[in-house]
Amino acid sequence: MIQRVLVFIIILSYSVTPVAKVEAIVYEPVPEMTFPESNPWSQEKEELGRKLFFDPILSEDNTISCSSCHLPKKSWTDGLPQSVGIKNQVLKRNSPSILNSGFLKTLFWDGRTKSLEDQALMPIQDKAEMNQGLDKLMEELASKPDYRKMFKAVFSGSEITPEKLAMAIATFERTIITGKTAYDRYWEGDLEAISPAAIRGMKLFSGKAKCSICHSGPLFTDQQFHNIGLTSDQTKKDEGRKSVTGEAFHDGAFKTPGLRGISSTAPFMHDGGMPDLLSVIEFYDQGGFPDDRKSPFISPIGLDDNEKKDLLEFLLTLGSQKNAYPPFNQDSP
Ligand code: HEC
Ligand code: HEC
Repeated sequence: MIQRVLVFIIILSYSVTPVAKVEAIVYEPVPEMTFPESNPWSQEKEELGRKLFFDPILSEDNTISCSSCHLPKKSWTDGLPQSVGIKNQVLKRNSPSILNSGFLKTLFWDGRTKSLEDQALMPIQDKAEMNQGLDKLMEELASKPDYRKMFKAVFSGSEITPEKLAMAIATFERTIITGKTAYDRYWEGDLEAISPAAIRGMKLFSGKAKCSICHSGPLFTDQQFHNIGLTSDQTKKDEGRKSVTGEAFHDGAFKTPGLRGISSTAPFMHDGGMPDLLSVIEFYDQGGFPDDRKSPFISPIGLDDNEKKDLLEFLLTLGSQKNAYPPFNQDSP
């Protein structure tokens, strides 16, 4: 399918400073989802994936489904600082929203997995998440007539395999995409879709506050890994991307999260340590905590209270996907 990419470039000049500063903001709408050739979309496959995603049969004691930690009504997160898995085990990290995860080149906060197909089998087997053996799960699924029928309708052969299960879940996940928000409507020509404060915040985001250096592109992520100086106590630091690449410069670096739907995915950051967006803005304004590996782009900004509010107003225009079920890709305020 042809991708419809509208690119508007506007030149904004800052009247507050005597010397005019010029910023270019590039608008990019969320692109069409493309399904991999090795796992094309079909209605039946999407439906099978949806059933599996919401089914606690995936966990050892049938208590936990994917949706226990990725709840549609919480914008596909769980609203907790750190997720809680099987038998109340607290995980190390915050549950990211799976909205738009079909566009990502790497998955997890540290990017340790490259495809949704590979990712899907990991929480199932993880001891703290679902603690389920794949052989046992295949037997359980095969004992259910509805699953036998559905797998058979989607895939060739009657055997139910982990690969087929992963393909169905991944197909379902690729349909969970953010719809249009006030921000998109503004760029499509409805100049009153966002407030003057949000417009000022948008300029700050791409200008003085430097956010767009990393939160760039249609999903507001460069899909790269950065250490933003998040951790005040270095003894408690999660090494993040370093555990995947072994590179010292990746110590404490995490994947830049996309910001579409950000108004309803609190708490924030890989450790879920920030309860709201204002705390996030305060954090960046102060330039993060000292860290040898901190990105050079994270340094004190010097925003005043009004600028902080403007930046917040802008982030809110990127939308909420609360109760986005169904349909998933609904438009939002
Ligand atoms: C017990 C809670 C829990 C369960 C159950 C769970 N997840 Fe997650 N999920 C998480 C957490 C926490 C992370 C981030 C972990 C990390 O980055 O190390 C995550 C990450 C992800 C990501 C990566 C998103 C991104 O932006 O990189 C996807 C996709 C995902 N989960 C899908 C699933 C699917 C599919 C299932 C069911 C098969 C599932 N999850 C079950 C908690 C859970
Ligand atoms: C150097 C790159 C970089 C810059 C600049 C940057 N960010 Fe981030 N942002 C990240 C990374 C990486 C994370 C995840 C960090 C972590 O969890 O350890 C993040 C996390 C966030 C989150 C939390 C998202 C979530 O789902 O938990 C928000 C909100 C956010 N940034 C907004 C901003 C704003 C607003 C600015 C500008 C004031 C900004 N960022 C500047 C890289 C950056």
